[in-house]
Amino acid sequence: MGGLWALEPATEAKHRLYKRYLDAWWPIMLQRAHVSRVTYVDAFAGPGEYVDGQEGSPIFALDRLLSHVARPRMNLTRQRVTLIFIEENQKRRDHLEALLEKRFGALDELPVTVRVEKGRAERDTLPLLDETNAWGSPILAVFDSWGNVGVPWVDLRKIASNPSSENIVTFGPNWFSRRENQEPEKLDLIFGGPQYWQPSNDDLTSTDRWREWLETYRGALKRAGHEYALTFQVMPRTGQPLYLVYGTGHPSGVKAFKDAMWKVDVSDGMRFNDPRTTAGKQAAMADLQPSLFDAPDDVPDPELLGFVDDLMDKPGTSVQDVCDFLIRETSRWRETDARPAIRHLLEEGRIARNPAKGHLTSTTRLRRVT
Ligand SMILES: C[S@@+](CC[C@H](N)C(=O)[O-])C[C@H]1O[C@@H](n2cnc3c(N)ncnc32)[C@H](O)[C@@H]1O
Repeated sequence: MGGLWALEPATEAKHRLYKRYLDAWWPIMLQRAHVSRVTYVDAFAGPGEYVDGQEGSPIFALDRLLSHVARPRMNLTRQRVTLIFIEENQKRRDHLEALLEKRFGALDELPVTVRVEKGRAERDTLPLLDETNAWGSPILAVFDSWGNVGVPWVDLRKIASNPSSENIVTFGPNWFSRRENQEPEKLDLIFGGPQYWQPSNDDLTSTDRWREWLETYRGALKRAGHEYALTFQVMPRTGQPLYLVYGTGHPSGVKAFKDAMWKVDVSDGMRFNDPRTTAGKQAAMADLQPSLFDAPDDVPDPELLGFVDDLMDKPGTSVQDVCDFLIRETSRWRETDARPAIRHLLEEGRIARNPAKGHLTSTTRLRRVT
């Protein structure tokens, strides 16, 4: 089809992350016998491929399900599993449908239900979830527009308040800053009302302005009902970055998402940053690490050490407090990262523990050595 476009490096990087996450998400949801139905909705589906033949998100989402090693244990039926692909553009929708049939066979004969819908994400996502009886069971909703957030906060709220349901929203750089002057009513829709956002401060650098917008968006996702919300800056080696926000109600979702990020191949220099913290924290904590030449391989990352060090500001911080903070407030670090960082700071004599001896348990108290 004419009208396909080239796969941007940031999109390619984001696809690596989605694939890894889907490899975890499908079996987590479908291997639970009590889950009667699971719905995946890609609300800005696209035509299914890029100009050089790389797969678009609907194709790999279905492929990761049908060719999953755990497929025999996932009890796939048309009634139990539904994938909804929404695309506004008729030609792209037709292209996607034809491509899905070419790749996987007639859609009405697949072991799961696949619906390719011409529609608008912001208008049709909730009615389609109504129509397919998705509510009451897990939903993963991906809102992957073209640098345009485009998802009403009330839609995110409805999905977030559904059991075991998650939202992923992506956007391009400068989206919020552009809208604040040109279309403030769009921001009202996206944040849930004018009281939930404020124009950015002109004195801030563009990076800091971005951090503030992302933090506001992360707040909106939490207000929508997600207990956990992670923000990522997807940084390809070349080209524009892309921002991604993931909301879930479950620590197991957080773990699966962070694990996916750690497993993604980044050998080409691509990175996932926590835009709220990475730059500042790494710079501030550089002195906590020996120089590159002296550094043994197992020295924890300065950002991680920086977080643990910050937590020492609060008297009585326990090992469990460190674990909880890493899970909840950082996009990168997991519970398993807490103890190596704590041990490193103990060995360096920067922090002390109570009790002073024995295993490091979740209730062991920590304090900074001044
Ligand atoms: C960034 S592309 C999607 C890429 C795709 N998710 C992937 O990762 O391969 C955005 C797509 O959304 C479509 N689109 C734009 N506005 C839309 C809307 N309001 N509702 C649904 N689709 C829309 C565009 O035609 C385009 O194909």
